Amino acid sequence: MLADQAEGASWTAAVAAVDGLSARDFRRLAAFIQDYSGIKMPESKRTMVEGRLRKRVAATGAADLADYCARLFDDGGLADEAVHLIDVVTTNKTEFFREQEHFRILETVALPRLLAERRASPYTTLKVWSTASSIGAEPYTLAMVLADASQRHGGFRIDIIATDISTRVLETAAAAIYPEEMIAPVPLEMRQRYLLRSRDRAQRLVRVVPELRRLVRFGRLNLMDATYPVDRDLDVIFCRNILIYFDKPTQQAVLAHLCDHLRPGGYLFLGHSESAAGFGLPMKPMGASVFRRE
Ligand SMILES: C[S@@+](CC[C@H](N)C(=O)[O-])C[C@H]1O[C@@H](n2cnc3c(N)ncnc32)[C@H](O)[C@@H]1O
Repeated sequence: MLADQAEGASWTAAVAAVDGLSARDFRRLAAFIQDYSGIKMPESKRTMVEGRLRKRVAATGAADLADYCARLFDDGGLADEAVHLIDVVTTNKTEFFREQEHFRILETVALPRLLAERRASPYTTLKVWSTASSIGAEPYTLAMVLADASQRHGGFRIDIIATDISTRVLETAAAAIYPEEMIAPVPLEMRQRYLLRSRDRAQRLVRVVPELRRLVRFGRLNLMDATYPVDRDLDVIFCRNILIYFDKPTQQAVLAHLCDHLRPGGYLFLGHSESAAGFGLPMKPMGASVFRRE
């Protein structure tokens, strides 16, 4: 190697070391993130974590990632920064009518059984929980499907709680404003009934109508908490595309908690690559990652 090249290579390595996370800082961050949120942080996520944390470096005025970590772990800043740190490292990918088969099963299998068992009247309340609701596409899809079903089944009441660990996504969810491209999976009649276009068409935004927004209550809840401040007689729980980020013991603990919050006969919907089988829980598999509390 020529002298210039050698100098260039060592300079590049030095910049990477200054700019990136040291092994120790990555270990400290990974341990905290997993402990706090359950999300596994293998070495393969290092580049993603570095990229996302740069936003927090800028927002907090830290000099670089090393300074950011020193403030958190050596200067006692972790408690104040935890919510923001978790906000940037969570993956919030979601869609309206994601894993569409679940909404068909809810409407045609789960709901008729639940209502028959409850001898539904207009005073019956169907209690539903979206446990990792992200920006709201999942709970508002539930609201659309259930509001339509309520009209067909004699007008039962609907109470949906929607929670997430990330305050950032919960703000978007409560505002219920989405780019038009996001509503492509919503059937046309539902769009007409439940979504309003922005008056300024150039903005290409839609908003969920107030009647539907009123059916959903949002709040922050960490699935790692020892107890959940949620009713224990829920009819339906959606916990989709979050267990995959947890290790087996964490999945076991979360699933056991969720099971405790379902009424006997209640339904648990997991993401298509997730399962409640093999954990010794009283949950009967119904196919398509749907389970029924025994
Ligand atoms: C990939 S999104 C899934 C959203 C939705 N359930 C779906 O399937 O479209 C996962 C969500 O889980 C949230 N999350 C991560 N860890 C969590 C925890 N410990 N407690 C509650 N929510 C968590 C993230 O903030 C993110 O919004």
